[in-house]
Amino acid sequence: MKDNINKVPTGASVLDEVVGGGFPAGSLVAVTGPPGSGKTIFAANWVYNNIEKLGLKGLYVSFVEGRKNFIENMRGLGLNFEKLERAGKFRFLEMITLKEIGIPAIIEQILSEIADMGADILVIDSFSAILQVIEKSYDARILVHTVLSKIVREMGCTTVIIIEKMKAEETYEPTEFLSDHIIHLSKTEVDGALLRCLNILKARGTEVRQPRLAFTLKGGFKVFRPLIMGGLPEPTKRFKLVPHNKEHYSSGIRDLDAMIGTVFRRGCYNLLEFERNVSLTPERLFRVTVSNVLNQGGQVIILPPQGLSALTVWRSLEPYVYEDALKHNLKIVDFKATAVELVEPYVVLFEGRSIREDMICFWNAISELRRQRDKPVFSIVGFDTLEYIYGKDELLKVIGEDLAKTRNFGDVRLNLVRPGCAIAEHLRALADIYLVVREICGAIILQGIKPRTPLLNIELHTDEEGSEIKITPIL
Ligand SMILES: Nc1ncnc2c1ncn2[C@@H]1O[C@H](COP(=O)(O)OP(=O)(O)OP(=O)(O)O)[C@@H](O)[C@H]1O
Ligand SMILES: [Mg+2]
Repeated sequence: MKDNINKVPTGASVLDEVVGGGFPAGSLVAVTGPPGSGKTIFAANWVYNNIEKLGLKGLYVSFVEGRKNFIENMRGLGLNFEKLERAGKFRFLEMITLKEIGIPAIIEQILSEIADMGADILVIDSFSAILQVIEKSYDARILVHTVLSKIVREMGCTTVIIIEKMKAEETYEPTEFLSDHIIHLSKTEVDGALLRCLNILKARGTEVRQPRLAFTLKGGFKVFRPLIMGGLPEPTKRFKLVPHNKEHYSSGIRDLDAMIGTVFRRGCYNLLEFERNVSLTPERLFRVTVSNVLNQGGQVIILPPQGLSALTVWRSLEPYVYEDALKHNLKIVDFKATAVELVEPYVVLFEGRSIREDMICFWNAISELRRQRDKPVFSIVGFDTLEYIYGKDELLKVIGEDLAKTRNFGDVRLNLVRPGCAIAEHLRALADIYLVVREICGAIILQGIKPRTPLLNIELHTDEEGSEIKITPIL
């Protein structure tokens, strides 16, 4: 191993931060998981990045697939191993006839390849294949462990061994006790969509604060940044404009428009539901959509979800919306009992006594906005607030009329519900588009239930032209 390197990065920057900069040089790492969980892609990504970025030399020993297959699969993920081979920095050792060759000959070959190319990093894919062969022989097991220790500790070659394992809690292989780090990759389902999680089961000498991380294999191995590690920061610039078309308002998120296709058609009634554990306040999600409508001359009216006053919503939009649009095209509901004394011109005041009277006031405000511009009005309604103030039974009396008005006038509605709302089941049934916001392994994940989408991680990107929300599917 090169002398000046004491940490070998993991190939994923978020994971590096969690394990203190990477795996210690000259350590043994076990990557475990069931079939298809991404073990090979993780290991390949690790080798590739360390060759490319640190100039290390890597050896990949495979007992499960041939060189050609490996190179081709990885090319599909943007990893060009052939180039590294030609530069003498990478070798792939194909050992698919393990049983015939025998353990001592295999060890001999691996050791001589490491020495010959001067490998700094090594992958054994999979170590389970070796374990199967030596299952019955105690001597062979001792031999393998001795050699492994020699490669790692004496030769200083940082090594990833892949171990097939259905569950993290399954009985440990003795090799796992030898390992300095154990990373378990898993595959589960959330409401019918694939979820991939990475679990750091062991990290010798490191305090791990965030042991579970969500990741995707879409376009390669990528770990999602949890909120507490700075995922989804405040945008530093206005959001880039995403154009609408004649029949639709854009969500303000280009990737989401493309994925769902129908966001947000005129006359549609939609639902955004927040799960119980989501720590992100709703306005931090809907302001990308609202500012995209306002900054292109559309009109918006917001009845804030619980916990948000009119002023808070106005202030959260202020840095991202042109002054003129903020002044003329935005209305926000406030309640008489809690409103500040001086009622700002953007406020639509609800008495809070009769839902009928207040909704008439709301529908009138929509009509007025529509008359000004002759454009569909985009409205956001926090149904949790309405349920809290008037109760579910009262809400049911106006919901039909509310839906009919949206449809008939060709406006666009985004309803919000938070956990524990009894009205949620009615809104789900009525919704044209129904999205759920979850917090998984600390990351904000959006999922389309109507229409169905994969789990989508939400991230903020900013460049010279502005900020934008990007979504990455978990595949
Ligand atoms: N180009 C790609 N884009 C997105 N996902 C991909 C791509 N290629 C493969 N995958 C996903 O990666 C999974 C396989 O990953 P990988 O081969 O790393 O799993 P593994 O844990 O090594 O499985 P095994 O134990 O069977 O060897 C596939 O099931 C597929 O879902
Ligand atoms: Mg594999």
